[in-house]
Amino acid sequence: MEAWGLALQFLRVGWFSSLNYMLNLNFHPTGRHFLQIPGPSPVPDRILRAMSYPTIDHRGEEFGALGLKILKDIKKIFQTQHPVIIYPASGTGAWEAALTNVTSPGDKVLMYETGHFASLWIKMAKRLGLDPQVIGESGSESGIQVSWRRGVNAALIQERLLADTHHAIKAVCVVHNETSTGVTSDISSVRKAIDAAKHPALLMVDTISGLACADFRHDTWGVDVSVGGSQKGLMLPPGISFNAVSPKAIEASQTAKMPKAFWAWDEIIEMNKLGYWPYTPSTNLLYALSESCDMILDPNRGGLASVFARHQRWGEGVRSAVNAWGLEIQCSQTASYSPVLTGVLMPEGVNADAVRNLIYKRFDCSLGTGLGILKSRMFRIGHLGDCNDLTLIGTIAACEMGLKLSGVTLKSSGVSATMDYFSNHPSPDPLLKT
Ligand SMILES: Cc1ncc(COP(=O)(O)O)c(C=O)c1O
Repeated sequence: MEAWGLALQFLRVGWFSSLNYMLNLNFHPTGRHFLQIPGPSPVPDRILRAMSYPTIDHRGEEFGALGLKILKDIKKIFQTQHPVIIYPASGTGAWEAALTNVTSPGDKVLMYETGHFASLWIKMAKRLGLDPQVIGESGSESGIQVSWRRGVNAALIQERLLADTHHAIKAVCVVHNETSTGVTSDISSVRKAIDAAKHPALLMVDTISGLACADFRHDTWGVDVSVGGSQKGLMLPPGISFNAVSPKAIEASQTAKMPKAFWAWDEIIEMNKLGYWPYTPSTNLLYALSESCDMILDPNRGGLASVFARHQRWGEGVRSAVNAWGLEIQCSQTASYSPVLTGVLMPEGVNADAVRNLIYKRFDCSLGTGLGILKSRMFRIGHLGDCNDLTLIGTIAACEMGLKLSGVTLKSSGVSATMDYFSNHPSPDPLLKT
């Protein structure tokens, strides 16, 4: 190599190694970063430690024991007796798995547009060659308003199914907790509507951000396919996702013609019987899942019921701040308020992303951005994962300072309102010292 070539090589190596040297993975200055987006949620140290165990042979005996344990535990989280499939994928992968396992090309699926994530699932159905029948804002029917501010209205689903006399609709798809808006839908009412219409369509529910935060009952509510994700109520990093499947869904999958391989349930269900997967599973995330299930299901901590009550209370505490500020909550129906997150609408002329950026830069607190039609109009406060009253009071303080610095006039102090709410409504957490 000529001298100038060698010199160039030297410079390149030098540049890359100095870049490596400077890459600091601890992006946050002092104390804990406030990760108050509605997922990924803060991961408890206990779970991070579990993830650091050595990666083991995924065909070995120890792995089989781990596999069987988590497959049993995760059923309890979905409140089902039936199989739950775990994918090494984000929630979007589990959406695709749900659709491709039970449908055939060109099938009609009835999809309810409650927000941005519902609309992305609809877009996916189109890309897969399905024929989504959308109940959305433009299709407000029977004088019933459909909007990104309200939960699913089951009467509209029933109406569409009654009109489908030839049973061309193969599935009804709804989002349990719309993460883009902070609106939770009543899933049992959807099952009742399907039954009242005497329609054989499957019920498919996205509970990616509802699972392990808001009450969700796969079996009791007659859900056929529930889609879950790791990075929300389960308090895990992103990377694994779930399909909980009913016997009726498994039966449908045996004749469904949509092309699938990686997502196909049959081989996975078969190998799961011994605690294994047909491919290399995410071993360390499965350690994390095992730890998360131990925490969530622990009877000394009150189990699932206590998890749901905790999130409800956090939601109340955060909403009391928004009301005190005099700002509007995106969810317009109190019965549909999400226990997972709260969408805060900005007054006219205020850019929500500018407020969010200021809060991030000045106070090291991340809030969720407005998505889709809500871009710049709203920010989202996540109240899920490894939080407590003080984390949320701190988050509200960051928001309050950021709003004031952005010139937003606030009616009164949200911090005081949240402190009052938490003081006057003691946490039922059995682990708190009394
Ligand atoms: C309700 C809902 N559905 C689907 C998704 C997509 O999941 P992922 O980003 O893990 O692919 C998300 C992500 O936040 C979500 O909140």
